[in-house]
Amino acid sequence: MRIQSLKNLEGMKKKGLRSLYPDETKVMVGMATCGLATGAKEVFEALKKEAEKRKQKILVTKTGCIGFCSREPLVDVVQKERPRITYGEVDAKKVPGLLDDLSEGKVSKEWVVGKMTEDECLAEGSKRRYFEGEEPEETREIPSYDELSFYKKQKKIATRNCGFIDPESIEEYIARGGYFSLHKVLTDMEPEQVIGDIKKSGLRGRGGAGFPTGLKWEISRKSRSGTKYIVCNADEGDPGAYMDRSILEGDPHTVLEGMIIGAYAIGASEGYIYCRTEYPLAIEELSIAIKKAREYGLLGKNIMGSGMDFDIKISEGAGAFVCGEETALMASIEGKTGEPRMRPPFPSESGLWGKPTNINNVETWANVPVIIGRGGDWYSKIGTKESKGTKVFSIVGKINNTGLVEVPMGITLKELVEDVGGGIPNNREFKAVQTGGPSGGCIPKSLLQLPVDYEELAKAGSIMGSGGLIVMDDETCMVDVAKYFIGFLEDESCGKCLSCREGTERMREILEDITEGRGKEGDIELLESLAAVVKDVSLCGLGSTAPNPVLSTIQYFRDEYEAHIKEKRCPARVCRALVQYRIDPEACTGCRACLTVCPEGAITGERKKAHVLDRKKCIKCGACVEVCKPDAIIVE
Ligand SMILES: Cc1cc2nc3c(=O)[nH]c(=O)nc-3n(C[C@H](O)[C@H](O)[C@H](O)COP(=O)(O)O)c2cc1C
Ligand code: SF4
Ligand code: SF4
Ligand code: SF4
Repeated sequence: MRIQSLKNLEGMKKKGLRSLYPDETKVMVGMATCGLATGAKEVFEALKKEAEKRKQKILVTKTGCIGFCSREPLVDVVQKERPRITYGEVDAKKVPGLLDDLSEGKVSKEWVVGKMTEDECLAEGSKRRYFEGEEPEETREIPSYDELSFYKKQKKIATRNCGFIDPESIEEYIARGGYFSLHKVLTDMEPEQVIGDIKKSGLRGRGGAGFPTGLKWEISRKSRSGTKYIVCNADEGDPGAYMDRSILEGDPHTVLEGMIIGAYAIGASEGYIYCRTEYPLAIEELSIAIKKAREYGLLGKNIMGSGMDFDIKISEGAGAFVCGEETALMASIEGKTGEPRMRPPFPSESGLWGKPTNINNVETWANVPVIIGRGGDWYSKIGTKESKGTKVFSIVGKINNTGLVEVPMGITLKELVEDVGGGIPNNREFKAVQTGGPSGGCIPKSLLQLPVDYEELAKAGSIMGSGGLIVMDDETCMVDVAKYFIGFLEDESCGKCLSCREGTERMREILEDITEGRGKEGDIELLESLAAVVKDVSLCGLGSTAPNPVLSTIQYFRDEYEAHIKEKRCPARVCRALVQYRIDPEACTGCRACLTVCPEGAITGERKKAHVLDRKKCIKCGACVEVCKPDAIIVE
């Protein structure tokens, strides 16, 4: 069936609502990559098999990631006249118990994460309650999502459908307001009005640089050419970052709708999604969504009967971090080596095959349908003066609530780490947070009150980047961190510029010397002057931001560099060459656990007597520390 009118769209919406809120019990399993990695597929299969065996009438469906990755596998239960309940850490063994409880109308309280009493349809600005009358007694004690510190401060726009819809159901996407913005644009708005609304919203590119999206669209629109292209950058190569993957896996249609609206605004007839090969599930969900959108007349010829022609192809990334840079990405789509080139000309004037090309990030595109649906003014009220809207972050590292969060711009780092992230595990102390991926900066505890926006992060020596947030505790060596990131960028440099190719290598060598006890007076200054050259004369953003982790760690943790160089000491006791192991005879119980695991036979002793560690034999692998329950092994 082809959607040609608002009536058709409303008909699809009704169908989608029936599957979102069915009469029978519905059990949804979070099956994005993060869920699958913890066993969601086994849970999904066990639910289907067990329900079939018992002839229990339940609907088992899949959904994307709702963000609480540290509690996965996540299972959500939607039943008539009850709040929606989320269960965490569900495994196949828990399935029979869960089904028993469902059939008896009980709640398996020990696995409950939280409940939702209502569901917001953000694209429309409407809400729907899960029950009309009084809340059933057995769910009253369960904390609602608004009370969970992980969710309380979040506002989901780009990720609004992840964890709510089946990504393969276009009807469910439509039921949550999907494709209504496209209809509005095609029937009611001139391209210039669309661009005006995006400009008014203040949306800035979420791929890293934060360029104003409306302005970019305007330049692309004004570029004169019979052929124009739209590109979605889904290369996402930052270590630890998976915001874009989650959107593509959980809600691929929002990206498609954003791109079709963008194509209408700039006058493009062809689009590409450049998605990294390492994201097979995202590619699969996108392929299904594109096929469905074509079947329904939302892609291809004469979209929604408006006369607009536009289609999207997927281009798989070549597996290099630098291919995320827009000019390298376009070279890669064209089948050439993925190397950056000089700008100008910018892609908006001369991009793919020399034609005007508008390139935006996945999250940028995902915001577009909501901005059009609710209006640029509505969006611009969220966030700070210069940074509007929300930002999706993947919070990883030494943090309790690892996961994917979407928060309003302007939230402080402290709120992100302590409230949303739930603080540092094992009672350790917060030390720093790295924002902006490998080319971002490490922000110390003293700046935790910093509001997260493009300008404030830049002032602190970091960048917003695409949204990776790595939290570090007091057991992290900042020199070692700088060495890791510069080493990553050295590997990923395309090698075209001498400054980036040789500069990152030299900086990594100096950092290696420092962490291995060969640091000398003047190394910090040498790092600083090398950083200035690499920043200033490199061709693309990889080189010009590569020194950020080194510079920010020198700026905020200079004493750690000096301890390594002058005292040959690693204060965090991470750098192997600078630490020594010994056994505290007072604390040792003689349990022999360390002796058993030591690969070098460096520990000797009799049962129930204090053991001895031979430093000459010790290779400082740390295995003994891991197994010593009374903490008798001292690293100094
Ligand atoms: C080395 C390097 C890697 C990049 N990787 C990505 C990426 O993975 N995804 C992305 O959207 N932008 C990435 N960018 C930024 C893009 O060049 C470009 O600015 C972005 O896709 C524009 O979209 P936006 O305006 O929506 O942010 C990268 C830039 C550099 C310098
Ligand atoms: S700065 Fe680095 S990655 Fe960018 S073009 Fe030059 S060598 Fe290649
Ligand atoms: S594991 Fe710890 S307590 Fe046990 S023998 Fe080794 S040092 Fe002693
Ligand atoms: S650090 Fe490794 S090599 Fe050294 S004593 Fe412990 S287990 Fe043995």
